[in-house]
Amino acid sequence: MARFRQIFVCATPGEGRCGARGGGELLRLFEEEVARRGLSGTMVVRNTCTRRHERGPVVFIFPDDVWYYEVAPEDVPRIVERHAAGDRIMG
Ligand code: FES
Repeated sequence: MARFRQIFVCATPGEGRCGARGGGELLRLFEEEVARRGLSGTMVVRNTCTRRHERGPVVFIFPDDVWYYEVAPEDVPRIVERHAAGDRIMG
């Protein structure tokens, strides 16, 4: 069974919000990374504003309950590896 993970990426538009800080590009990069690795149990979800955008763009991992702040494009492979790599393990 594939490991279940949801990667919530805030890409809310507006001045000073995550969308203006690269959230849209992050959303696309997470989708591409998950698809490239074939992680069938991992979903990438566009998140709504959680009022944390002063430290945006913000990424939340469920059910791990881990928040990432000021996420950069180069962080995407590491975050996917850390939280979704177990997706490859059959149980
Ligand atoms: S716009 Fe991303 S937390 Fe507010």
